[in-house]
Amino acid sequence: MRVVITDDASAVANASAEVLCRQLVTAPASVLGLATGSTPVMLYKELVSRYQAGQVCFAKAKSFNLDEYVGIDPSHPQSYRHFMQQHLFDQVNIDPVATQVPQGLADPKIECERYEAAITSAGGIDLQVLGLGSNGHIGFNEPTSSLASRTRIKTLTEDTIAANARFFEAHEQQPTLALTMGIGTIMEARQILLLATGEHKAKAVKAMVEGPVSAMAPASVLQFHQSVTLVLDVAAASLLEAQDYYHWVEKMRAQTT
Ligand code: F6R
Repeated sequence: MRVVITDDASAVANASAEVLCRQLVTAPASVLGLATGSTPVMLYKELVSRYQAGQVCFAKAKSFNLDEYVGIDPSHPQSYRHFMQQHLFDQVNIDPVATQVPQGLADPKIECERYEAAITSAGGIDLQVLGLGSNGHIGFNEPTSSLASRTRIKTLTEDTIAANARFFEAHEQQPTLALTMGIGTIMEARQILLLATGEHKAKAVKAMVEGPVSAMAPASVLQFHQSVTLVLDVAAASLLEAQDYYHWVEKMRAQTT
C-alpha cells in the first residue's frame, strides 16, 4: 500500500486528481470505478476544472459507480446517479451511455448480475476510486461482508444510515438497502485509489492500513491488493503508527521521479 499523507482535504483532492488525470492521459479509454459521498466532491470539482483547462479528456472513458440505493429513482436528488450527473458527468465530456450506476429500481438480482457482466465486458476496471466509511466499509460492504463478495444487495448498518441521514429531508423515507459492488469485484480493479479525510475516519484508516485483515474492517482487505494508493489528510492519518515511514517513502519517491 502506498500511503500519501497530505495537509488537508484540498491537497487530497489535488493529489487524487493527479492520479486520475495521469491514468486518462496515459490510457484515454480507461474504465474508471467511481464513488459518491462527501469525500470525492472536491476531487470531482478539481477534475472539472482540469477538464475546463484542457488538461484531461473523458471522451473515450467509461465509468462504473460503486453503489446505489435500492428503490430510489435515478432523478431523486439523493440518488447516486443524480450525484454523479451533478458533480461530474454533466460537467465533462464523458459519453452519457458510457457511465453506469447500478439501477436502484430494477430487480436487484437481475441488476447485480447485469452489472457484473457489464464490468467484465468493458474489460474490467482500470482505476477504482474509493471512499471509506467510518465503520471501515468500502462501497456499501458493511462490516462482516464476505471478502469475496460480488455485486449484490446489502442492508446498510444503522451507523451508515445515520451518517447519510444528513442528505435526506426529515419527511423523506431514507433507503436502508443498497446495491453495491462486492469486495471481490472491487479487488479485481487493476489499481485502487482510496481517499479519506477528517478525524472521524482515523480509526477506520488505522484498521485498514495497520490492523489485521478482517471482515469486521472490510477495507483491510486492500492489504492484499498489489496496487493501492491511499490519499489521506493529516487528521485521517492521525492514528497511524508508521507515519514517519510513509512520509519517508514519499520523500524518497520524490527524489527519484
Ligand atoms: C459511496 C460509497 C461509500 C462512501 C463512504 C464514505 O459511493 O461507496 O463507501 O465512500 O460511505 O462516505 P463519505 O465520503 O460521505 O464520508
